[in-house]
Amino acid sequence: MGERVLLVGSGGREHAIAWKLRQSAKVDEVFVAPGNAGTARLGTNVAVQPKDIDGLAKAARELRITFYLASMDDPQPLGLVDRLSAEGILCYGPTAAAAQLEASKAFSKEFMVRHGIRTAAARTFSEYGAARAYVESLQGRPLVVKASGLAAGKGAIVCANESQALEALDIIMLRRDFGSAGNTVLVEERLVGWETSCHAFCDGRTALMMPFASDHKRAQDGDIGLNTGGMGAYSPSERVSQALADEVRRDVVERTVAGMAAEGTPFAGTLFPGLMVTEAGAHVLEFNARFGDPETQVLMPRLESDLFEVCQAAAQGRLNEVRVSWSERPTVGVVMASGGYPATYKLGHLIEGTDGIDPDVHVFHAGTKDDTRGLVTNGGRVLTVVASGSTLAEARARAYDNVKRIHFTNAHYRTDIALRAVK
Ligand code: AMP
Ligand code: GLY
Repeated sequence: MGERVLLVGSGGREHAIAWKLRQSAKVDEVFVAPGNAGTARLGTNVAVQPKDIDGLAKAARELRITFYLASMDDPQPLGLVDRLSAEGILCYGPTAAAAQLEASKAFSKEFMVRHGIRTAAARTFSEYGAARAYVESLQGRPLVVKASGLAAGKGAIVCANESQALEALDIIMLRRDFGSAGNTVLVEERLVGWETSCHAFCDGRTALMMPFASDHKRAQDGDIGLNTGGMGAYSPSERVSQALADEVRRDVVERTVAGMAAEGTPFAGTLFPGLMVTEAGAHVLEFNARFGDPETQVLMPRLESDLFEVCQAAAQGRLNEVRVSWSERPTVGVVMASGGYPATYKLGHLIEGTDGIDPDVHVFHAGTKDDTRGLVTNGGRVLTVVASGSTLAEARARAYDNVKRIHFTNAHYRTDIALRAVK
């Protein structure tokens, strides 16, 4: 009997992973909670929300799930992996204890200091007055103020001056825009450099690096506008040399895996450090304990190995037996979003043209659903259109050529995804 795999989430990331899992001869069926119209075409959507651990555990039992693949952040700190493992379901993902690497920036900062992993200097506060006094004592030094807990990628406020830093403390600690995620704040030195995303498969002892990818977080061309979940991505990252990749593997990823094991909370699952490369080398801005979105949409089409087999080996602690191969062909993914995202936007616009795209180009769904009219928008980020090419420039041109064939009212996408990399 083949595997019955559970994914939790409803992003382009989950659609891309579901698409890749369906290529595995070992996988019989893919279930996605709650999923979107794209995942419904590849498997079965399950009407349970990502933070409903009881509901997910119940669904896993009823659906006779044999494998859980963790892709998004929410369920792991709430203990979904611990829970499903106890019920005999093999899981690829961190336990609640290991997921603290992402769920608590205070924990991960202290962890990095304990293990000599390069990161921005920071201090942690749970009392507003003390945080304020500290910011004032720094006399206008460039800072980033962060809510310690999970804040849907929006909890870091980059500050240009002291008054902005004080305002950030107000937003997080007094106005409580991020709720209890802001019970503790980090006041962090602001680094200057360029960013890239690293992903690695981990099994508690061994880590296998994926290719590097770069995303574009701001809503508008030229990296202006509000921070979003990500407006597009490409892989490989043209600026990451082999020497830098080796440094990140050794000094960030392997040190993290060894440190977590030494502390009795081995890390299994996808480790995704967000990095800032400065003149002094790569610094960890944050750890994510999951796959990136939209990075995953540009990584899955490059993965030549069987994703299920790699994750299964990691879940069984035998990643050292596995080789993972990746296509040399670069990929570019452009996110099509609802006009207004990440602020307010309307739902329910008809999406047309997805049947007219090139056969080897992927349209990974995020905020979509099917209603009586057909496919309609149902979220901020709607689709990621991913193309490959013999060069990054060709992949980029093909992605945009296909984006232009898809239409919905007020569609918004950036026109400069991967542009700096092909210049
Ligand atoms: P985070 O959620 O911690 O990854 O932060 C979100 C974004 O804020 C990052 O992608 C960076 O662009 C920026 N950022 C975070 N920390 C720093 C830092 N110490 N220095 C400069 N920029 C930062
Ligand atoms: N693309 C950034 C993230 O997934 O957090």
